[in-house]
Amino acid sequence: MAVSWRKDGIYGFVVLDNPPVNAINREIRQGLLEAVDWAEREGLERVILSGAGPAFAAGADAKEFDRAPEAPHLPDVLNRIESSTVPWIAALHGAVLGGGAELALACRYRVARSDASIGFPEVILGLVPGAGGTQRLPRLVGLGEALNLVPTGKAINGRQAKEIGLVDEIDDDPLGFAEITNGELLGMSVPVGALNAGEVDEAHYESASVLAKKRMRGQVAPLKAIDLLRVAQTQTLEAGMKREREVFLDLRQSDQARALRHIFFAERGAKIPSDLKPEMKIPDHVAVVGGGTMGAAIAYAFLNTGAKVVVLETDADGLARASTNIEALISNSLSSGRIDETAANARRNQMTRTTNYQDLAGVDLAIEAVFEDGSVKQKVLRSLEAALRPDAVIATNTSYLDVNMLAAALADPSRLIGLHFFAPAHIMKLLEIVKAEMASPKALAVGYAVAKRLGKIPVVAGVCDGFIGNRILARYREAADTLLMDGCTPWDIDEAMVDFGYAMGPYAAQDLSGLDIAHANRRRQDATRDPARRYIPIADQLVAAGRLGRKSGAGWYQYPANGGRDIDPAIEKIILQAAASAGIDRRAFTPSDIQNRLVLAMINEAANIRFDGIAATTADIDLVLVHGYGFPRWRGGLLHYADQIGVDRLLAMLGMYAAEDPLVWHPSPVLIDCAEAKISLADWQAENH
Ligand code: NAI
Repeated sequence: MAVSWRKDGIYGFVVLDNPPVNAINREIRQGLLEAVDWAEREGLERVILSGAGPAFAAGADAKEFDRAPEAPHLPDVLNRIESSTVPWIAALHGAVLGGGAELALACRYRVARSDASIGFPEVILGLVPGAGGTQRLPRLVGLGEALNLVPTGKAINGRQAKEIGLVDEIDDDPLGFAEITNGELLGMSVPVGALNAGEVDEAHYESASVLAKKRMRGQVAPLKAIDLLRVAQTQTLEAGMKREREVFLDLRQSDQARALRHIFFAERGAKIPSDLKPEMKIPDHVAVVGGGTMGAAIAYAFLNTGAKVVVLETDADGLARASTNIEALISNSLSSGRIDETAANARRNQMTRTTNYQDLAGVDLAIEAVFEDGSVKQKVLRSLEAALRPDAVIATNTSYLDVNMLAAALADPSRLIGLHFFAPAHIMKLLEIVKAEMASPKALAVGYAVAKRLGKIPVVAGVCDGFIGNRILARYREAADTLLMDGCTPWDIDEAMVDFGYAMGPYAAQDLSGLDIAHANRRRQDATRDPARRYIPIADQLVAAGRLGRKSGAGWYQYPANGGRDIDPAIEKIILQAAASAGIDRRAFTPSDIQNRLVLAMINEAANIRFDGIAATTADIDLVLVHGYGFPRWRGGLLHYADQIGVDRLLAMLGMYAAEDPLVWHPSPVLIDCAEAKISLADWQAENH
């Protein structure tokens, strides 16, 4: 039974029990309705409602969102609880989210554990609360606090909830506390829905919507949530709930909500496959070779989880640099209040530094993050193999090098995998696990174990130039550079992509990471580049002029010493000269031209990546783009978005651009397959083609 009830004297105890987190589905809604009737029939004095297991209720069951709503509907159930002659008390612990929090609001009294997590995360799934949350919350806590919570989706703990009046009491034993709550006062308490919702406050709505437009740019749901909080202040509960339900049902079927649901389920699905599970052992003791930008941040990510870390560098100077880099990360967390002095010292004590491979004998895993140079890396890998326990796994953080070739340096190549972290490695959620041909199940399982330990999203990629993410990025940049040559400026392109939903356009992003990395990569590719493919030399000219991006004060933009980013007329000159010497007759491109070309170039390459077996699913590619490259989450990732456009339209667009350049816009066989079989990209299976 998803809801159970029992009587103890004049008290009724109703328990939600739908493991793992008591997601509210049809069965729970039905059970709650029956429990209300039962409590009234029994003439109970109170009902105490709680959740079995680790949560009260973590929200509505998202699996039901793709189906038509089924009665009884949650708003009706909650109205029934609120207006029952028997007052209900919510005893809250663990997750009290979404529909769970709305359920708590329909009760007459709320007692929570101080560490309960209470919030309305609907906007994160492109929705608004659909069962009175937007109408009852402002009545209970006031408009200001409701605006802090609902449009942001942010959760607060029990203690904070008490401070704003969202719960009445906090106690370690909310069930026990609910039993001793004064019955007389409980009987006289006013239902939340009957409270006054306060005055209309235009300035407040306005500042909340400015914030929502900035923080959740492009997303509809936060703004709708703000509108609904306004309705709470101008209309009756009944009218407000009716309006809320309409908006909720509308959003539920919207492209944005579908896209956000897709990513949500893709994230949940990104975990170790069952056949590898027996091999999974979470590494506790890790070596990081190279303490530069990446190595230091990888080491720090492990330190944050309590792991022992040994950092190996070439010499004393290298070690000093590594120490400075790691210390900077620790003090940054200290000064921002993320950790305290004790935690900072613990991190310092978990770490040792060495220049001697013999000191790595005890580690479970070694990750190399030395210079991006095949022969340097091979030498490091051989030294690791000689020094490590035979069962320890070896990983490379290479961005582009052939991991099979690196594995060939080892006597036992099955020990090596790629672990491609993204900068800044202690923050970015994505971890590409690069599956070298010979990699053992154990080595792959360690990849997943690292993701689990560090709280990252693992995606397995096959070996190719750039794996999944950087291979797509290369096409994105190629399409952008072609537009520079043919008619655009970097700021035209950046603005169009920001409008599409990226936090930053491709040129601002290059300035941030430094133009030298991509430049070195282009030189590596010189030998193998198809001479028939158009090559745009503009970025090379910037590097030659010492414009390496933010770190050198100028790149595609100029970075004045006092902060900010300026458009630089010199760049336009460089571009115009390059176009003139290539004999290009520049023309105009609209923002949607720019978006179409850049996104289509990526989609076509992503389809090829599926064709080559580099990514196992389209959802994996979506995760890579959203979590590693800033593709707007609310578009569901690259290939979810592609499927919304539809393969026929994609092919028609490719055909149009192919008239300009048949090599670059050559359609992927996967797109053609999908069009012929009338299936989506998500449904394409390698074995059927
Ligand atoms: P970096 O130049 O900041 O750091 C490299 C470090 O390795 C230096 O501290 C150097 O002293 C040390 N080192 C060089 N040879 C060594 C050896 N034989 N033994 C021990 N230490 C040695 O480079 P960065 O940016 O940290 O990149 C490292 C690796 O990570 C490269 O393979 C790069 O492609 C990859 N990567 C870089 C990303 C980035 O955004 N910077 C993103 C993802 C991967």
